[in-house]
Amino acid sequence: LILLLPLVLLGYLSGSWLGALTVCRLAGADDPRLAGSFNPGFSNVLRLYGRRLALATLLVDAGKGMPVLVLAILLELPPWAQGVVGLAVLMGHSYPLWHRFRGGKAVASAFGIMLVLTPGVALVCATLWALLAWRVRTAAVASLASAAVAPMASLWLAPDYVIVVIGFTLLVLARHVLNIQRLGRGDEPGL
Ligand code: G3P
Repeated sequence: LILLLPLVLLGYLSGSWLGALTVCRLAGADDPRLAGSFNPGFSNVLRLYGRRLALATLLVDAGKGMPVLVLAILLELPPWAQGVVGLAVLMGHSYPLWHRFRGGKAVASAFGIMLVLTPGVALVCATLWALLAWRVRTAAVASLASAAVAPMASLWLAPDYVIVVIGFTLLVLARHVLNIQRLGRGDEPGL
């Protein structure tokens, strides 16, 4: 467990890399924090710049937590400790060190982490997200529903990770407070 601290640090630092900013900069597009929902994430890049850049953002944000999580598994950390490392990645994404602690909503990064820790749950959530985003055309609705379903899917597919997945869900819900308020007022931007 002496290994947990460096992995948490590594997780937090890798989480702090915001895919949306790198992708938009490389593509010569404007900073996604300046338009749309002002969120540096997959959904806002999709809204502003379309599928190609959104997919690239998803690859970075989902992929960035994977190496440190694979390391945690190889070092045979117990599920709760793997979850702490995963949470550190999500904290990095949400409160990044080098962006004045103002980051994203941790949906794509949680998907990537779950793909390593609980692949079945990740696939259930991704399917639900895609289905809802397509039908309802609102990213936050898709994200909130997927986050709510994740613990139940985990109970079924990865019971050892239920507490961990509940932790991810709570963080994602907390990062969507503004979206929930906007949904209540009926002025949430679509996709
Ligand atoms: O993936 C984040 C999504 O749930 C909300 O993003 O840009 O619509 O606030 P956005």
